[in-house]
Amino acid sequence: MLEIRGLNVKYGAIHAVRDVCLSIGKGEIVTLIGANGAGKSSTIRAIMGLTRCTAETLSFTPPGQPPLDLQGRPAEERVKMGIALSPEGRRILPHLTVEENLYLGAYSRDDTDGIEEDLEHAYALFPRLKERRSQKGGTLSGGEQQMLALARALMSRPSLLMLDEPSLGLAPFLVEEVFDIIQTINREGRTILLVEQNAFAALNIAHKAYVLEVGAVAIEGRGEDLLKDPRVQAAYLGG
Ligand SMILES: Nc1ncnc2c1ncn2[C@@H]1O[C@H](COP(=O)(O)OP(=O)(O)OP(=O)(O)O)[C@@H](O)[C@H]1O
Ligand SMILES: [Mg+2]
Repeated sequence: MLEIRGLNVKYGAIHAVRDVCLSIGKGEIVTLIGANGAGKSSTIRAIMGLTRCTAETLSFTPPGQPPLDLQGRPAEERVKMGIALSPEGRRILPHLTVEENLYLGAYSRDDTDGIEEDLEHAYALFPRLKERRSQKGGTLSGGEQQMLALARALMSRPSLLMLDEPSLGLAPFLVEEVFDIIQTINREGRTILLVEQNAFAALNIAHKAYVLEVGAVAIEGRGEDLLKDPRVQAAYLGG
């Protein structure tokens, strides 16, 4: 569904992403782990079209269509093609209500019935958001804002959903809930690219994983194999 070869992101003199190759199959959960500053957010922002990059191949295959080159297409077009990003750090609109934030996630669509259906589905996945549908986004707790960001990304009905640290700052029971929801969303047919600091939880649900070290892919493999890999255990799983 997504094929990346030779992806590079540079910010002036900082070479944040170095010749990264990634391959994501339809229906998979793929995780990208790595230390702070490893280039995880830069990679997914480049896929979304929010960061300038160069690549040999940056190809996305929407369901039932031939592969399309993403390069040169603005982010809005990538959203219409079926890619969505729930960004790092609760980027919701604080002065809009929960429901207005959710409708914003559907801005690229004009199928009113489908949007209403997806709104109800988002509320079924996140009952707390339904209870707080008229509350201003900025008055939600940190964890609730995180859930709103995730639910909003779903409102564009993406085939590829990218999540940048959805568990950041959540209480342990909420982390579990968010990972359960990610698996539910995946079982509903969405492909997921998950960036996480919580390597243990991410590797547990991932079909495939990539470890980024200073901008480059250092290790890749099946989630369950990386959980047992001594290098991964030493560096990312607390020994
Ligand atoms: N807009 C920018 N301008 C300059 N440098 C940037 C910019 N965005 C990111 N960087 C740098 O690029 C490198 C990679 O950053 P990135 O945000 O991709 O890392 P990350 O793996 O997501 O880290 P974290 O786990 O802390 O979120 C870092 O050294 C960062 O300082
Ligand atoms: Mg990041």
